Amino acid sequence: MFFFALTFRKKNVHYEPMKVENITLSYGNKTALRDVSIDIKPGEFIFVIWYSGSGKTSLIRSMIWDLKPSAWHIFLDNGSGLYTNKSDSFLSHHRRSIWVIFQDYKLLESKKVYENVAFAMEVCGYKDRDIRKKVSEALEQVWLLFKKDKYIKELSWWEKQRVAIARALVHSPKIIIWDEPTGNLDPDTAEEVMDIFDELNREGMTVIMATHDKEIVNKYKKRVIAFKDKKIFSDTKNGNYCL
Ligand SMILES: Nc1ncnc2c1ncn2[C@@H]1O[C@H](COP(=O)(O)OP(=O)(O)O)[C@@H](O)[C@H]1O
Ligand SMILES: [Mg+2]
Repeated sequence: MFFFALTFRKKNVHYEPMKVENITLSYGNKTALRDVSIDIKPGEFIFVIWYSGSGKTSLIRSMIWDLKPSAWHIFLDNGSGLYTNKSDSFLSHHRRSIWVIFQDYKLLESKKVYENVAFAMEVCGYKDRDIRKKVSEALEQVWLLFKKDKYIKELSWWEKQRVAIARALVHSPKIIIWDEPTGNLDPDTAEEVMDIFDELNREGMTVIMATHDKEIVNKYKKRVIAFKDKKIFSDTKNGNYCL
């Protein structure tokens, strides 16, 4: 196992639940999601399992309004906010709460680890002092502070994934979503992935992982949401991989 000490800080953050209702999405005349509703409680850890090509990425992109479903309701703030108008102020609030690590995370290969994570904050207009603090914290959370001055091209696949995770963490999201890593993870890496996400989850962050990794899902017994025919067909607490 990893020998670097995990020095997570307890953060006093209020995490809000999120409920999406009736997401319906089509690509041209082809339906990708039909009336999908999910109630996400604060602090939950959820595996979303679908076959490849079944719509996981489409759902995630719809949840952050990166795709525009034809039907869409979203509740935040303990149900007090129902957002249907998709105003600029809603979208900027929403996008700060929920952060996605996509499969095609684009790291700047010719830049260093630190610069890649800092860049994510610079484009959002954070102050230099905050950037320095947050970037170091986030790299520590993914056990990568010791490689902050390495170039991305010098990193392994799993180290690159962790840079992508750190880039999400600097925004202190309430919900973090990992859109499945390509291929199954080897057992050691899988354990490290889960150590990182479990720790974030223990701090109160809601974690959603889209995955087709049967071993991880069966081993860690989280809430499992599975889809079939563009709809949810099972949603189980402490669930198993059921495809
Ligand atoms: N931009 C797009 N235009 C048209 N069809 C798409 C697009 N993105 C995805 N699809 C189709 O929608 C379906 C769901 O894709 P996706 O959400 O990527 O699934 P998953 O993430 O589960 O592999 C697939 O049949 C895919 O070919
Ligand atoms: Mg996908």
